[in-house]
Parts: sequence; C-alpha cells; structure tokens
Amino acid sequence: MSAVRQGFSSRIGFIFAAAGSAVGVGNIWGFPTQAAQNGGGAFLLVYLIMVVILAYPMLVAELTIGRLTKRNPVASLRALGDTAQWQKIGSLVGVLGILALSLILSFYAIISGWLVSFMAAPFFSLLGFERAASWLTEFSTSRNLIMMLIFLLLTIKVVGSGVTEGIERWSRRLMPLLFLLLLLMTAYILTLPGAMVGLEMYLVPDFSQVMNPDLIVSAMGQAFFSLSIGVCALMVYGSYLNSEENLPKTAAIVAGLDTSVAFLAGLLILPAMFVAQNNGVEIYTAEGSLKSSDTLVFTVLPSMFDGMGVAGSVLAIGFFALMVIAALTSAISMLEAPVNTLTEETTLPRNRAVWVVGGAVATVSAVIVFNFNSLFGLVVTLTTVYAQPLLALVFGLMLTWVLRRDRLLKEMQEGNPELMEGVFWKIWPWYVKFVCPLMMLLVFFY
Ligand code: PHE
Repeated sequence: MSAVRQGFSSRIGFIFAAAGSAVGVGNIWGFPTQAAQNGGGAFLLVYLIMVVILAYPMLVAELTIGRLTKRNPVASLRALGDTAQWQKIGSLVGVLGILALSLILSFYAIISGWLVSFMAAPFFSLLGFERAASWLTEFSTSRNLIMMLIFLLLTIKVVGSGVTEGIERWSRRLMPLLFLLLLLMTAYILTLPGAMVGLEMYLVPDFSQVMNPDLIVSAMGQAFFSLSIGVCALMVYGSYLNSEENLPKTAAIVAGLDTSVAFLAGLLILPAMFVAQNNGVEIYTAEGSLKSSDTLVFTVLPSMFDGMGVAGSVLAIGFFALMVIAALTSAISMLEAPVNTLTEETTLPRNRAVWVVGGAVATVSAVIVFNFNSLFGLVVTLTTVYAQPLLALVFGLMLTWVLRRDRLLKEMQEGNPELMEGVFWKIWPWYVKFVCPLMMLLVFFY
C-alpha cells in the first residue's frame, strides 16, 4: 500500500472530476437519442423525476461509502460490516462492481475510438487524404481495434499520472472546454433552418407516453448510467474527497451539472437532426420511426456536416471533440477504481497497475471487436441494464442495513455538523433503506 494516499486538492477539483465522470457519451449521445425515441419532453420529464427520486439518493450513498474509509472500493465495502461474514460479502460486492466497471470500459473504449476517428477524419479530408478519412469513418475491425487502443492509451496516460496530477488536472482543463463547446455549438445550430421543429419535439411533452413502462425503464437506466452509479467509479472518487466537504450538497452539485449537460445536449442534438432533415438527410426509417441512435450520431450528423462545406468540417471537428472530451473524463474514472484497488490490495505501484488493468481491458475490448455482432450489445445490456441498478441497490442496502447507524451518522456529520437539524437526515437513511429498493423492484417487474 502506498504510504501517503492521494486525494483531490480541493472541493472544486473533486467536482470537476466527478462531473467529468458523470458527463460522458451517456449525456451527449445517449440522453438526446433516448429522448428522441421516447416521446421527447415526456422522456425528459420522467428522466428528471428518476434523477431526483432514485439516482441522487443513491449517489449520496455511493460517495459516502467511499469517503467513510478513504480506501479502495473493495476495502470500503468490506469495512461496512462488523462480522467476518459481512466483510466477505462486502469484498465480493466490491469485486463485482470493479469487474462490471472494467467491462463497461471495454465497450466504452470501442465507442470512444469511433469518436476519435470521426474527430480526426475531417482533418484528413481537408488535407486531401481521402483514403485515410474514409478508413476512419467506415466500420472495420482494423479501425475499431486501432482506435480503441489509441483511446485506451490516452486514458492510461492520464490515470498513470495520479489523482491530482492526472485526473484532477485534466478534468479541470477539459470540463470547462466541454461546456464552452457545447454552448457555442448549441447556439449556432439553433439559428439554422429546421431547428425549431426539433426543439419543439424535445421540449413539449407528449403526456400519453409518460406512463409507458418502456419509457420508465429506459429513463431509470439512463439516469444510473449517466450518473455513473453502481460500479464503484464515484465511490473511489468519494474516497479522495476530504472530510470538510458536505456530502449531500456536493452530490447535488454533481447531479445538477450532469443533468444540465444532458439537457443542453438535447438542445443541440434534436434540433441538429431536424436541421439535417431540412438539408435533405433522411432521419426517419421507412416505418416512420426515428433512425437508431448509432445511425443518428455516426451517419445523420456527419452527412449534415458534409453538406455544409468548410463550416461543416469545423462543426464536425467541434462536435466530435466535444464527445471525445466527455468520453475521456468518464473513461478515466472507469480505469481509476480498478487501478486504485490493485495498488492498495497488492504491492503493485500505480505506474504498473495502470498497464495491468489497461492491458486486461484492452484484451477484453479486442475480443468484443472481433466478435462485434454477438458480443457488443450483450456486454452493454449485461453491465448497464442489469449490473448497474442491481449493484447500486446492494450498495445502498449495505450502507443502511449493514453499517451501524451511529457510524453512518458520524460520517455524514463530517463537513455537515448541522445534519441532525435538517430534513435530509430525517428522510434519506429511511428512504435508501426502504423506498429505493421498493421502487427499483417495482420498475424491474413493471
Ligand atoms: N456516466 C458516464 C456517461 O454518461 C458513463 C459511466 C458509467 C462512467 C459508469 C463511469 C461509470 O457516459
């Protein structure tokens, strides 16, 4: 174990890093396209409700588990129980969380590789290297493999530099850039013809859809994925947060930032789709439903950019740069939890652990790339639809049923001495203990 444990140097550093983890492909691609396919404003409404009533309370739980012991996720979950039995179960849950997270990284790196490809392609086109540009944008095993490796190398570099020098430093640089790019692109797209139709579809709820079971399940899954919940990513960031910080408040800021970016991305993507339609690009399938989300991002938007000349190339580069930044700061958090666990549970130093974990993830990723059609969708469903909500539920249960209540209270009072007077403490422990599990079971059986 390292003698001095690293941590974030300030509250704002933590917030940038945690928001960097939460804001990812899930916000900029997942959220708008799910909204477009599930009744626009109706999805937005149900999503917001899910964030407030389920995701936020569970985010507080996960951060609390991390900060309580200030150790890696496996050790943190192990330390919740007083008996040997519970400690074993805690370790097992931690290991499962780390495995699920590493699997998420293995498919996330493939998608992120495509984003890097689409960001680089316009440069090659502008320089006249058409063959390179088309290799980058056409689906092939070689492209998928090489670009995935490039993206993972980038992630390994940042995580290898440590918590303050790598993760915090890069999150502080990249997150403001992401906000700026997103604002500029949205403002520009909204001025183009056709944009208002998309805006209307996004913002006006179709209330007949609100109780649709598919919509509710999708919104819950999207909220868990978007807030990085249930797979130890934010637990490990919580363990780097110092004890002066108020946990419920910090978690609220992170959830608020993540939700704002998802909302803003909707203001960009949905209008952009209808701008594309206005330019003659098909956005609906022959059956009249919206094209699937991967087609939207990798075909519809690029063909709109293509039709706009040099301005289009600049927009394309900007748009995919935005996505790459979002993906990178999320991938960093995915690599950090297994790396931190390895360095603390064995004697491996960080600069070796990043290569061990990175190499293992790259191998699994490569297996997926070579068996894309049979494995990709399976891994996504297994990890995001099943593992994330189930593990999040177990984290919440461990914290409120297994951990002694006086220890929980003491931890929550750190950075929040007036906790007992406020409503948060009167509601939240009971809520996570009884209401969250019930609601999640309900959604699952629904
Ligand atoms: N929240 C990230 C996104 O929206 C994905 C993620 C999931 C990150 C799980 C860490 C852990 O893209």
